Amino acid sequence: MKIRHTFLSLCLVLTTEFDSAHASEPAPAAPVTITIATARSTLELYTGADGRLYQRYYGATRAHLSAPKAKPAREGEFHPPAGNGFILEPALQATHADGNTSTELRYASHETTAVDANIAVTRIKLQDPEYPFAVTLCFRAYRAEDVIEQWVEIRHDEPKAVRLDRFASAAPVFQADSYWLTQLQGDFMREAELQEECLAPGIKVLDSKLGVRAHQMRPPAFLLSLAGPAREESGEVIGGSLGWAGSFQFAFEVDHRRQLRALCGINPFGSAYQLDPARTFRTPPMFWAWSDAGKGGLSRNFHRWARQYGMRDGAKPRPVLLNNWEATYFKFDEAKIVSLFDGAKELGADLFLLDDGWFGNKHPRDDDHRGLGDWQVNTKKLPHGLSYLADEAKKRSIGFGIWIEPEMVNPLSELFEQHPDWVIRQPKRELQFHRDQLILDLTRPEVQAFARRVIDDTLAPNPGISYVKWDCNRYVMQPGSSYLPADRQTHLLIDYQWALYDVMRHMAEKYPKVMAMLCSGGAGRADFSSMQFFHSFWPSDNTDPMQRIYIQWGFGHFFPPGAVIAHITDKGHRPIKFTCDVALTGALGVDRDVSRWTPAERATVAATIALYHNRIRDLVQQGDQYRLESPYEGKRAALDYVSPDRARAVLFVYQLGETAATLGPVKPRGLDPAQRYRVREINLPAKAKSRLALHDQVVSGASLMSEGVQPPLRHAVESLVVEFVAER
Ligand code: DGJ
Repeated sequence: MKIRHTFLSLCLVLTTEFDSAHASEPAPAAPVTITIATARSTLELYTGADGRLYQRYYGATRAHLSAPKAKPAREGEFHPPAGNGFILEPALQATHADGNTSTELRYASHETTAVDANIAVTRIKLQDPEYPFAVTLCFRAYRAEDVIEQWVEIRHDEPKAVRLDRFASAAPVFQADSYWLTQLQGDFMREAELQEECLAPGIKVLDSKLGVRAHQMRPPAFLLSLAGPAREESGEVIGGSLGWAGSFQFAFEVDHRRQLRALCGINPFGSAYQLDPARTFRTPPMFWAWSDAGKGGLSRNFHRWARQYGMRDGAKPRPVLLNNWEATYFKFDEAKIVSLFDGAKELGADLFLLDDGWFGNKHPRDDDHRGLGDWQVNTKKLPHGLSYLADEAKKRSIGFGIWIEPEMVNPLSELFEQHPDWVIRQPKRELQFHRDQLILDLTRPEVQAFARRVIDDTLAPNPGISYVKWDCNRYVMQPGSSYLPADRQTHLLIDYQWALYDVMRHMAEKYPKVMAMLCSGGAGRADFSSMQFFHSFWPSDNTDPMQRIYIQWGFGHFFPPGAVIAHITDKGHRPIKFTCDVALTGALGVDRDVSRWTPAERATVAATIALYHNRIRDLVQQGDQYRLESPYEGKRAALDYVSPDRARAVLFVYQLGETAATLGPVKPRGLDPAQRYRVREINLPAKAKSRLALHDQVVSGASLMSEGVQPPLRHAVESLVVEFVAER
């Protein structure tokens, strides 16, 4: 397993060295130009005559750029600090130990180091000329994927703490006639709805103040298109994604000069940070992706990058799970679970995942009002324990996984009876509940140790457990800690996240063979820092395939399909073929008591799983995804996946509403025009004959892409899956 960085555990590191030359550092004699380049994009920075760092350009790599201005306007400063002449929304705001509320940042030095053939790290040191206070802007450029990762390190050697009120990870500027912003807004059960708007002058804020389960209303990601709405396969598009599971803020300011600044980072709301001398405050990473091939090209860049660097074991096939949440909710016992294993085996699933409800004895977890925090197996429901279940699963040649929610506690639990002071709450205020649960205060070392113990006590004695679903079902409403001192209460939401990443890292490093699903009451947590420790995430509790088309479509703009779990269930009561065809486009799984399906339905699901395993899993999880027809734009949605060598592809078409006649042909993309492909409709119901005119024909990639294939669909919830295999 490859963990991307070490910085997540080092958000506040004690450092001793400090560049004492701060006071006398002169402005550089000649302008310094710093280029952060990927294969096709460039971020160019330079120093003005005043010694400040300015942004010259971010976009397609160009042979010629206009000469940098010697006296640029302050509005173009790359990482502007507050209080000394910068009059717009700042990237950094600090109150120095002597009470001075201004900061000045002048270029001091920079260095670029090649990590390997694809990655280069650039560090630019900026220094306050009057204070031993330095800000290092850090970049990691991923050449082939056109991704630039950016974060900031703030450090000082003043006699007392410096208060940080703003601490953006990135704040680049853009110049265009208009700016088009796309966000993924939503809520529980309707996650990741795409919405695009043209930014007007002023500040548009997209944020979360929820602290934990912070992405319930939007994940920390957006798209920017300059000079017109983003197109699917053409035009320059920039994508931003913050690696932070906590409260975040994106502030898009279109200023009086019609320039856009995108301030991205931890939400400063209620989070003033007292930074002690000789410690480093490290911001979470902001990931920028760029493409001149529209939103589609941008997503493929993010996907390629994520599989390589942005998620755990990106190349490893994701198993087909059978989960019992919708199958049983809390109502199960050992016999029931073992009978579900038989269903999983019959379908050909790889693994059974035991969800919520398996623990708690004094307060049995028979519903969501009790038991959370008491991670002992419920002896009434599961008298032979977890290892017995893992063994029974093994006998049927399937793996066994388990659900945990180590950050939470019900007041009706032994844990809360013993440690009422361990929860996040405000003194003198009545406790506020959500799903009848409270959040454990991870800033407290005993709580961190407890969360590690939950993992160890569950996994170490039960080596048969090969999968974990990590859930998180409420957000912060009363951000108070009985552990943090009075003057550091506002550290809570920041320190919580760093501690959380440490616990996640503990699980990933100590149990490298145990695969893991990130879940948070649906997709309340979906960010690239968490994904270092997880293989996939649960995008929504809404598994109605009609809704899932939109939810999976939205997340697919940033996350590769192998990261986005898609289960076949009974929600929405849609036809089984349509349900299966929608689930095939992500990390396939099932959540259903198999015995409740008819034999014909079971056979369809089993055939779908076999098809996924044997013919298309690698295409879906590792191929290039092309979004062909948006569900937001008509009565049909379509997308295809192409193998890296373009020898194989699979096309999915979904009819969303009734139409008087069949809609026109769907034109696949990404094929090799020079290759000839055998076209086959796949995942057909048993004994059904394909109605596809091109079925079993051999057609050139060029003609498939220009003429398309005509789906014989006219009624809502009909669907079509077509395979293209190059004839050698
Ligand atoms: C919320 C998750 O999204 C569901 O899949 C399920 O695991 C429940 N929590 C269990 O409480």
